[in-house]
Amino acid sequence: MLFVQITDLHVRESGNPLAGRVDTAGFLDRMVTRLNALNPRPGAVLITGDLIDNGSEAEYRLLRQRLAALDMPVYLALGNHDGREAFRASFTDLDYWDAGTAFVQYAVDLDGVRLLVLDTHEPGKPSGVLCLERLNWLSDRLAEDRSTPTVVAMHHPPVPVGMPNMDPSRLLAGAERFKELIAGAPNVERILAGHLHRSVTARFAGTVLDVMPGVAHQIHLDLMGERPLSFAFEPPMLQLHAMVPGAGLVSHKVYAEPSDGPYPFRGG
Ligand SMILES: [Fe+2]
Repeated sequence: MLFVQITDLHVRESGNPLAGRVDTAGFLDRMVTRLNALNPRPGAVLITGDLIDNGSEAEYRLLRQRLAALDMPVYLALGNHDGREAFRASFTDLDYWDAGTAFVQYAVDLDGVRLLVLDTHEPGKPSGVLCLERLNWLSDRLAEDRSTPTVVAMHHPPVPVGMPNMDPSRLLAGAERFKELIAGAPNVERILAGHLHRSVTARFAGTVLDVMPGVAHQIHLDLMGERPLSFAFEPPMLQLHAMVPGAGLVSHKVYAEPSDGPYPFRGG
C-alpha cells in the first residue's frame, strides 16, 4: 500500500470542543490507532490541511504529540484554519519542505509515485489562494518530470461542487492558472483535497479531483443552501492509494470507525 490520505483534523486544546460538541483530538487518536493497524502498513500518511482549528502554536504542540503515535512518515499540508508561521515554528525538524519557498510546498517520492504538496493557505481568508510564486513552483515541479505518476495534494478544491455554503471558499485566486498547469501534465493521476468535509469526486483538467471527508465532524450536505453552514457526525473516512498492476493508481475509501464483521459468505 502506497500511502493514506486523511484530512481536516481541526485539533483543539483539550476541554475546548469544537462548536461545544466535537472532541477533535479524540477523533484523531482513534484514527491514528486505525492507521497503525492497517495491513499492509501504508508507507506514508498525507494530511491535506486544517491540521488544527485556530492556527495557534499550542494546538500544533498538541498535534505533534498526537501524530508522534503514528508508525509511518506523515506529510502535512496547510488549510485555512492553519497558521503558516505557527506551523513552521512548531515543525522545524521536518526535513521535506522546499527551502526555496516561504510557502509549505514540497515534492516527495512515495515509492514510484510523486507527491506534490501545495500551500493554498492565505491568512485571514477561508478561501484558497495560489499566488504567482506558488504557481511557478508547481509549474517548475511538473516540468521536471512528465512521466512519473504524480499526485497533487492541496486543501482547497479548485472548482465549485454544488455546495452553496462551501463553494465561495474554494480555491479562488490562481484557480484558472492552476487548471492550465494540470491540464498540461497528463501524468497527474489525482488532485487530492479536503476542506469540504465530504466525499466528492469530479473530473478536473483531464485528471480526477478527489475530496475526502474529515477525521472528526462532517459538513451537512445542503445542495440547496437552505440552512446556515452546519455539521453532522457522519462517519469519518480514510483513503488508501496504491499502484495496482493493470490499473495504475487505485483509491479505496474506508470508514475510520470499527464495524461489525467481517463474516464469511460461506461456511461461517
Ligand atoms: Fe476543515
